[in-house]
Amino acid sequence: MQDQLEDTTSIPSHIMIDQPAPSELSSSDDNSDKPHRYPFKLTSFERRIYNVSSVFENLIKVKSEYAKDPKTEQYFSGRREEQLSNRLSDSPSPHYRISYEKSMEQLSRDNRDCFGGDRVQRFLDMGCSPGGFSNWLLEQNPGAAGVGVTLPNENAQFKLVTDGTLLDAGRYQIIYADITTFATEAVSRGGNPLSYLSSDASDVDSEETQRQFVEQYDLILAGAFPTLEGFVPWWYRIQLALSQLLVVFTNLAHGGACIIVVKNKPFRWLVELTSILRTSFTTVTASKGSVILRSTCYIVCREFHSTPEHLETVTEKLRAALTKLQDVSVDTPPEHDNNDGYRNERSMPLLSSLSDEELFEQEHEFFLEVFEPQWLVQYNGIRKVQKRRT
Ligand SMILES: C[S@@+](CC[C@H](N)C(=O)[O-])C[C@H]1O[C@@H](n2cnc3c(N)ncnc32)[C@H](O)[C@@H]1O
Repeated sequence: MQDQLEDTTSIPSHIMIDQPAPSELSSSDDNSDKPHRYPFKLTSFERRIYNVSSVFENLIKVKSEYAKDPKTEQYFSGRREEQLSNRLSDSPSPHYRISYEKSMEQLSRDNRDCFGGDRVQRFLDMGCSPGGFSNWLLEQNPGAAGVGVTLPNENAQFKLVTDGTLLDAGRYQIIYADITTFATEAVSRGGNPLSYLSSDASDVDSEETQRQFVEQYDLILAGAFPTLEGFVPWWYRIQLALSQLLVVFTNLAHGGACIIVVKNKPFRWLVELTSILRTSFTTVTASKGSVILRSTCYIVCREFHSTPEHLETVTEKLRAALTKLQDVSVDTPPEHDNNDGYRNERSMPLLSSLSDEELFEQEHEFFLEVFEPQWLVQYNGIRKVQKRRT
């Protein structure tokens, strides 16, 4: 339930419904850190943040109350059924696509309209179904061309329906592929996930030439996210996010921008990821888009300025992390299944070799600067719903 918090009235309906982990709600005895007792089971890194951020603490507390309210469960099961029936329908509603268009519009507005008005020339949209972000970009940037990558409709929770959109115009190319698979396969080959991203690039044989071609993306959307898929193992989300990040780092033009969808929870890997973004882009901010209550947000990074040496270091780290994650299996429990709460695989070092403590010391201020405003928006949204209910 913790993951499902969503505005019940004014928000778009494109909820990424995750099945709540049954173990996520904690009895206070399971959290033996003193003097704190946590309303939810938290990973060790989340606890560090909880202990220094009253904004995060307040959010966790209000989410705990909200999750216990039976009206919340009723609401979410209704929404889940609605979305599942839409998924099975032969003519899915455009409603979901339109709500993503609104999110993209909001993201642009939050960033001085930098994604419209022909300021985008060439974009890549990962996880593009049902097509809202791409369609909005094509509409708002008449000179732009784009490539969308998404799961084939039969495997996807949202079908890509191009009717009534610009997605079937000559300016847009759709590639049906699993991003995690093609990134991890590229890593196993010792290469970069490049040639899958443009049919034009497949005509050229050297990786260097392909790189020159595909690096011309000036905006990359890393929006692939498990949606409506029931239980998703904790490492799968990380694999998908890091696969997309590898695509970003190997395909983004100098000066370009990227938008990454993440769960806004202070897991260690997210702190590591934010640290890499901080050193690669001039500005890193976050936005909830038009979605207030969900535990996800968009990290918006602008002005990519990675030097070739830095790029090499980062892509090496991403490759190593993806290789490490391939060894994680269903037998590896998430942290809050462990008794002492510390041996958290979610807290395992992936992109940084610093200890939890060192990473926290080095990164928490920047991390809080980016995420506290998002937690506050989410907190205020939940409080509003609660007030309406009483
Ligand atoms: C939240 S939706 C994205 C909505 C999209 N940004 C839009 O504007 O319409 C997430 C999408 O990611 C896709 N997805 C999930 N896992 C994927 C994967 N491994 N490879 C490619 N696409 C994936 C899902 O099928 C879904 O269409």
